[in-house]
Amino acid sequence: MKHFLKETDFKPHELGEVFALAREFKAKRGRNATPILAGQTWAMIFSKSSTRTRVSFEVGIHELGGNPLFLNKNDIQLGRGESVEDTAKVLSRFVHGLIVRTFDHSEVERLAAAGNIPVINALTDFLHPCQIYTDAFTMTERWAKNDDLVGSLRGRKIAFLGDTACNMANSWILGANLFGMKISLSGPAEFAPGAELKAQLQREGFPADSYQFTTDPFLAVKDADVVYTDVWVSMGKEDEKTERIRQMSPYAVSAKLFAAAKPDALFMHCLPAHPGEEVEQAVLDNPRSIIFDQAENRLHTQKAIMAVLAKDARK
Ligand code: CP
Ligand code: NVA
Repeated sequence: MKHFLKETDFKPHELGEVFALAREFKAKRGRNATPILAGQTWAMIFSKSSTRTRVSFEVGIHELGGNPLFLNKNDIQLGRGESVEDTAKVLSRFVHGLIVRTFDHSEVERLAAAGNIPVINALTDFLHPCQIYTDAFTMTERWAKNDDLVGSLRGRKIAFLGDTACNMANSWILGANLFGMKISLSGPAEFAPGAELKAQLQREGFPADSYQFTTDPFLAVKDADVVYTDVWVSMGKEDEKTERIRQMSPYAVSAKLFAAAKPDALFMHCLPAHPGEEVEQAVLDNPRSIIFDQAENRLHTQKAIMAVLAKDARK
């Protein structure tokens, strides 16, 4: 059974298929619906808040002819201590796919291992692969000159600023390696990419020096094609808010810092944003900020991810 728990779960040919399908779904939006999930129900177990991920998956499942079933973790027995494994086995008897947003990454791995339906990681503390695929697809909309969408990413440089140990930073390190991009991260030294990510890079066969980390944000954005940031206080880290803001404030994406990247560099943010913290409002409003294209493309890209998984599950 094929799952999408991390960026590298799709083989290179499937990656190309996801991007091509995302482009096709976007072009056809509202017409010629493709009923790939007709007669299917896909459950969504969320243990954290969400606007984009929840809505884009619910709408996307509808648009593919399926039925989305949203389950707040605390409303089901999983929230009262039923095991992850029994939950996966029971849901596998009812539904055709499972989309999960949770804290501990091992929870999505255990659900995938115990059930017999495709599982999609809709964000864990470790990774956010749906966002990375969407972001990369959004970049191809600006850069691709032909149908080789993935090829248009090769050699490009992304600079990631701020919380360089968060799920988005980890996922972008894996994503950059997968897409053949260069990545430079800049944040406080205590937030340099951690052991879990390094172990993952090793398992994937990516070199240990497959990313650069610097405490100098201007060095990180030099020659960057994309300047990327995320909130400084991820879900679950609220207790550390005051200290994180103090530590990360030198890494805020100001207009001056953005101007130090390539003259045609794009600004990207997975959202939600906290203007005045990790990014200045002027940068969010810059014509080269493509944050709302990213948000919209969650829908098209995740429909493509579900289509590829559903095709595999039918084999
Ligand atoms: N970017 C993202 O995943 O947004 P939500 O938390 O609103 O789903
Ligand atoms: N790093 C953020 C991403 C939100 C989409 C968080 O985990 O809260």
